[in-house]
Amino acid sequence: MSKLFTPFKLKSITLRNRIAVPPMCQYMADDGVPNDWHLAHYTEIAKGGVGLLIVEATAVSPEGRITPGCLGIWNDEQAVEHANIVKAIKKYGAVPGLQIAHAGRKASANRPWEGDDHMKVDDSRAWQTIAPSAVAFGGDLLPQVPHEMTIEDIERVKADFVLAAKRALNAGYEWLELHFAHGYLAQSFFSTHSNKRTDEYGGDLKGRSKFLLETMAAVRKVWPEHLPFTMRFGVLEFDGRDEETLLESIELTNQFREAGLDMMSVSVGFSTPDANIPWGPAFMEPIAKRIKDSTQLPVSSAWGFGKPDLAEHAVEHDALDIVMIGRAHLENPHWTYTAAKALGVEKPAWVLPAPYAHWLERYKI
Ligand code: NDP
Ligand code: FNR
Repeated sequence: MSKLFTPFKLKSITLRNRIAVPPMCQYMADDGVPNDWHLAHYTEIAKGGVGLLIVEATAVSPEGRITPGCLGIWNDEQAVEHANIVKAIKKYGAVPGLQIAHAGRKASANRPWEGDDHMKVDDSRAWQTIAPSAVAFGGDLLPQVPHEMTIEDIERVKADFVLAAKRALNAGYEWLELHFAHGYLAQSFFSTHSNKRTDEYGGDLKGRSKFLLETMAAVRKVWPEHLPFTMRFGVLEFDGRDEETLLESIELTNQFREAGLDMMSVSVGFSTPDANIPWGPAFMEPIAKRIKDSTQLPVSSAWGFGKPDLAEHAVEHDALDIVMIGRAHLENPHWTYTAAKALGVEKPAWVLPAPYAHWLERYKI
């Protein structure tokens, strides 16, 4: 019996299995508005049988986009199109989630396949980035020095997160994820690589956590108690200071739990180009288990679980409650069916809609 194919309940929401698609930017929007690309993409994956589908990093303000092609949810036009995506995802039995985000100093970049680098200052599409401190991410690609956020900037971004959460709820999303990972704005408040502030939003763990805790608390007030309220957070950087960072992350995650977080998507910080990340299959599994065991929060994680036996192993050994399968869904939107066959699920094709399942089950190919 596959545990990956057992339901998972969080608050009032039950996922049909423990397979989730993590947010994956498509860079296909204009002015942040979801369009036919997004509708087709998310419908296709929802039909494939996943339990949870988290729609890509969606900016809470124009300046919070990574690229000009990123999705947004700062106005009603965008929210209406999000509602169409929600409807399609639900129609095919998956739970629709949204990741709301602000890209901070990694914003104002070209699409990955058009360079992945900061747009030049004289590019009419470019904008001034903001971050806790005027420190560039650096490396070859992201040299732009951000504007150091004032207290007014901080208050405005928190308010933007709140408005985005309200719009997400009105659009019908049933699962909300705060993007506090991957070197974007919230992660860069937490990280000593990017936060050099000397006021109450910097310095020790308490200072570097303040923006994250306040933003979370503000959103918590408007996101209903009965729906899952989750976060993606980079718990370490692989920068040689991993144990120190992990201990801070555990302490902060306990505070998130006490403040009403329901689940943590355990990820990497990506706050410095000088990290030495041990890329490999399921490399985050032991770290996610440590977060789960130290905080008693349900956890998910991604990074290289795209082989069914690896995903099964992670839930079977109580390292993860749900498993995020990203790029493998770009290769095969019916990954859940592939996994069902590999893991010996009875009548595996019935994870797909009937017009596919009937024929795949009746005449095996
Ligand atoms: P990059 O994509 O620039 O990657 C940073 C370094 O990690 C590079 O050296 C890169 O290798 C390496 N790397 C990244 N992904 C992989 C992988 N899957 N396998 C092996 N090596 C990898 O960093 P970003 O900060 O832009 O993104 C961090 C991660 O988050 C990436 O994995 C990216 O795919 C993902 N991502 C997150 C987004 C978000 O959270 N909104 C948006 C888009 C992507 P190399 O130099 O060889 O390319
Ligand atoms: C990503 N990733 C990502 N992460 C995130 O938190 N928000 C996002 O919007 C994106 N966008 C994104 C776009 C694309 C094209 C890729 C490939 C990745 C990271 C993603 O959620 C996931 O963590 C990684 O893809 C690793 O999981 P897999 O692909 O190994 O299953």
